[in-house]
Amino acid sequence: MQQKLNEIRESVRARLEKAVESSHIEEIRVNVLGRKGELTQLLKGMGKLSAEERPVIGQMSNQLRAEIEGWLDQKTRELQDKEKAARLAKETLDISIPGKEMQQGNQHPLTATMEHLVEIFVGMGFTVVDGPEIEDDHHNFELLNVPKGHPARDAQDTFYFNDNLLLRTQTSAVQSRVMLSQKPPIRIISPGRVYRADEVDATHSPVFSQCEGLVIDKGITMADLKGILDQFAREMYGEGIKTRFRPSFFPFTEPSAEVDVTCAACHGEGCRICKGTGWIEILGAGMVNPNVLSMCGIDPNEYTGLAFGIGLERVTDLKFNVPDMRLLFENDLRFLMQFGKGRI
Ligand code: DAH
Repeated sequence: MQQKLNEIRESVRARLEKAVESSHIEEIRVNVLGRKGELTQLLKGMGKLSAEERPVIGQMSNQLRAEIEGWLDQKTRELQDKEKAARLAKETLDISIPGKEMQQGNQHPLTATMEHLVEIFVGMGFTVVDGPEIEDDHHNFELLNVPKGHPARDAQDTFYFNDNLLLRTQTSAVQSRVMLSQKPPIRIISPGRVYRADEVDATHSPVFSQCEGLVIDKGITMADLKGILDQFAREMYGEGIKTRFRPSFFPFTEPSAEVDVTCAACHGEGCRICKGTGWIEILGAGMVNPNVLSMCGIDPNEYTGLAFGIGLERVTDLKFNVPDMRLLFENDLRFLMQFGKGRI
């Protein structure tokens, strides 16, 4: 039996020598010390030994067991350390490699202008409202004093879904919706997209953006309109900017005006952009026509109103010195990246 114990000792040693993975050690442990392991099996035969031999062999096998356990633990640790070192070597992070540059986007100049504009009017106490881009003839034209057959429709041909539904030609359509759903005092702006069946050129596009403004209260006058628009122009373009009101015609306002601001490119001196006039038109405005008030359920004897419709592309072009409106729609990154942190 003693010899058997020695054989087990030697074979464990030999197997440990050859083990190259920590999982092999566990196999050896099971094979030798497990319930059906070699040493365990051997000890089961102890009953056959004489009374003198039994304690001696018992002690020897306990010693061997402790010895083997020690070796197994040591070898496991050794192999685990090696495995860890190998893994770390493979996973090495080379922090000297330069990072991949992520291209950073920025706001579209039109969006930036629209947000700036909204901020300015909110600062003057206006509320922002939204209106549908698919509008009906009634709100887009009829309620704004433009009945069927009115010549003002010629300048605003658009895309029709049927006789009644169309892509709105002006954010002014929101005026009628607001007046029908709110009671005065009213002080709103409504920025958004509008559509017209126009050919594309440097100043025209079949889709463009406007911001409508509407104020209705008792005693609103043209002076309020001038004050509001002057304030807007100064905040958008800086203190030196001036506005100019030219008499004009819109069916939904009386009197009506087209409003110019000093050309930012030449500071009013006259240049190619302002065609030598020193002024650039950015909006239409006026006092809300009493007919419109009545049609929308507001008593014109009690209330007066002012309205304006700002061309957002114009305002943007002027702010950023953009010579051609098409640049705002073509999504050419070489153009767009000039407006933010992610410049190329
Ligand atoms: N809706 C007009 C257009 O698209 C612009 C406009 C003019 C709006 C006068 C107004 C206004 O609110 O009072 O040409």
